[in-house]
Amino acid sequence: MPDLNFDPKKGIPELSGKVIVVTGGTAGVGRGTVLEMAAHNPAHIIFTGRNVASANDLIAQASAGAKLTFIACNTADNASVASAAQTILTTTPDRLDVLVCCAGIMGKAADVSKDGYEIQFAVNQLGHSILVRKLMPLLEKTAALPGADARVVMVTSTAWKNAPTGGIQFERLHTEQDILVGGPWRRYGQSKLANLLYARELADRYPNVLALAIHPGVVKTALITDLKWSQKLMVYFLYIGQMLTPTQGTYNLLWAITTRKDDIKTGGFYVPVGKLSGEETETSEYRDLGKKLWDWTEAEIARYL
Ligand SMILES: NC(=O)c1ccc[n+]([C@@H]2O[C@H](COP(=O)([O-])OP(=O)(O)OC[C@H]3O[C@@H](n4cnc5c(N)ncnc54)[C@H](OP(=O)(O)O)[C@@H]3O)[C@@H](O)[C@H]2O)c1
Repeated sequence: MPDLNFDPKKGIPELSGKVIVVTGGTAGVGRGTVLEMAAHNPAHIIFTGRNVASANDLIAQASAGAKLTFIACNTADNASVASAAQTILTTTPDRLDVLVCCAGIMGKAADVSKDGYEIQFAVNQLGHSILVRKLMPLLEKTAALPGADARVVMVTSTAWKNAPTGGIQFERLHTEQDILVGGPWRRYGQSKLANLLYARELADRYPNVLALAIHPGVVKTALITDLKWSQKLMVYFLYIGQMLTPTQGTYNLLWAITTRKDDIKTGGFYVPVGKLSGEETETSEYRDLGKKLWDWTEAEIARYL
């Protein structure tokens, strides 16, 4: 069990005035994070996902008086993400303090998104890059306000280490990317490596906005409980004694969203709770891969920006 050492009651300051967007807020660690933040007086929390019933249920459960808005967004559909980003900009034209990219899927069979990309890469990374780029001018504007800081939190995983040879197989991202052994996990690892590298690229390219990647821990959410039984058994076996409850799984997100900016190394990768990791991806090889990811992504999403 990781040393969590985080108490949401003491660790989360008042969020007065803050506007926060969370993707994948309808379930799992995103949902728990939205609910906890709603109890700390933010100006506005906007959350996205596809499940409208779950969104309505969350709004009904949240602290009385909290301003919560659900915006439908399918990160497997580039046009849906671009449209959701536009709606977010209309909903909060003046301010965006934190963007949390949390929506995700794991361990899925070979498939492609609506736009023809490998499905886990599309949902976990590519859709988010459209959102980040479209909201970046507002984040930068917010960062320039007196006393403010703005940040992007990419929710990744230590499973980035399962990425296939070469890290990201760009030439196969327009396919189902069938991989003979361990395909669902290799493709998940690839998408999570991309989350991590993308955070670092954001940090380099937008120095006025903090960008960090975090691992929430191995958490007993639907991401794991909805796996095929053979996959589930493997996860339970590998992480015996280390699984976090959904509430504990929110701690690193809450830390990343609310800790003082001076406590964050921009571009860093943090494991629960608030511990800097990631030396393994500091090599020039990974630096080059991050730049390649950036250039590839910019070309792929240009028509949505
Ligand atoms: N659980 C873990 O052990 C663990 C470990 C490391 C990292 N993570 C990361 O944590 C993040 C959240 O995982 P979780 O455990 O909270 O999973 P979860 O309980 O399955 O929740 C996933 C969330 O992502 C949203 N989502 C899935 N597909 C989507 C799509 N196509 N478009 C838009 N939203 C979509 C879901 O919303 P809708 O169903 O409403 O679309 C839901 O809100 C993921 O990025 C995951 O990789 C989790």
